[in-house]
Amino acid sequence: MNIKKHVTRGLWNHLMKSGVEMGLASIIYEVGVASKYVNHAMRTGDLGLAGTSNLYGEDQLALDVLADEIIKDRLDHTGRVSRIISEEQSEIIIFDRQGRAGGYSVCYDPLDGSSLVDVNLAVGTIVAIYAGDNPLQSGRHQVGALYVVYGPRTTLVYGAGDGVHEFTLNSLGEYVLTRGYITVKGSGKIFCPGGVRRDYLPEHEKFVQQLEQDAYKLRYSGGFVPDINQILLKGGGLFMYPGTTSAKQGKLRLPFELNPMAYLMEAAGGAATDGRRPILDLDCYDLDQRSPVYIGSRDEVERAVKFFAGDI
Ligand code: AHG
Ligand code: MN
Ligand code: MN
Repeated sequence: MNIKKHVTRGLWNHLMKSGVEMGLASIIYEVGVASKYVNHAMRTGDLGLAGTSNLYGEDQLALDVLADEIIKDRLDHTGRVSRIISEEQSEIIIFDRQGRAGGYSVCYDPLDGSSLVDVNLAVGTIVAIYAGDNPLQSGRHQVGALYVVYGPRTTLVYGAGDGVHEFTLNSLGEYVLTRGYITVKGSGKIFCPGGVRRDYLPEHEKFVQQLEQDAYKLRYSGGFVPDINQILLKGGGLFMYPGTTSAKQGKLRLPFELNPMAYLMEAAGGAATDGRRPILDLDCYDLDQRSPVYIGSRDEVERAVKFFAGDI
């Protein structure tokens, strides 16, 4: 093994060589550290239910709570985070930084798709990062975002203003660069429909039928992170989670699911919309704010916007 290659291609070295501000770099790096513990817990423990539920009334798996604790501790450890929003916390958490200025705010989903762990499907961690003390900002103000995929390989994808890059956890427990400056295909041939077909609003139903008539292939794992990762890294395409008759604003949360993924997708040359407006331009005013989402290759997202505007 070429040790030098691993050292120079390591996550911290990449962050430094990319000129990422030290505080932001330490947040991204520490999420990477936390993900190694989450990865280990997921692959070794049968943790079952925690016996508690989150803000959304969803049963929390012990793994949800454990992942949340690990990430929260590592973010606090940086000394650079002043506020966090977590899917597993019912309010904004304030870290005491002894009055030090220049903090960051972080919104994260510690374990997205956690109910898939017990059937051994890929799941992930999703993180959005803002400068300052306010974690409820429009996604356009993010200064960085990242996700981790816990799959056959454990990979970390981050963007902080200079491209989107993938790192793979190696047998030494280091994240080494495996794809630099990722760009998503301008158009693709897979689509993720989201939700339950019976509950689709008529226009979403019609749009999905159009894609199927145009030979788009349905690929939907039920895990937002691996589904997005497949579109970003492989053949492009479109991930959708629409508003439905039972949930007009859809299921996915803006602060810690949609904003970070939209940031990374746009940074890789793709797009993300709620069907009319870019996700990143939506005002973010509530921890549990949801939005319909159409995210992926530019062509498919533009097609969705035109379709819902009645132009095609
Ligand atoms: P979480 O496990 O954090 O609640 O998120 C799960 C989300 C997301 O991963 C996925 O895209 C979506 O749930 C799937 O929802 P459906 O099962 O309703 O399709
Ligand atoms: Mn989630
Ligand atoms: Mn989750």
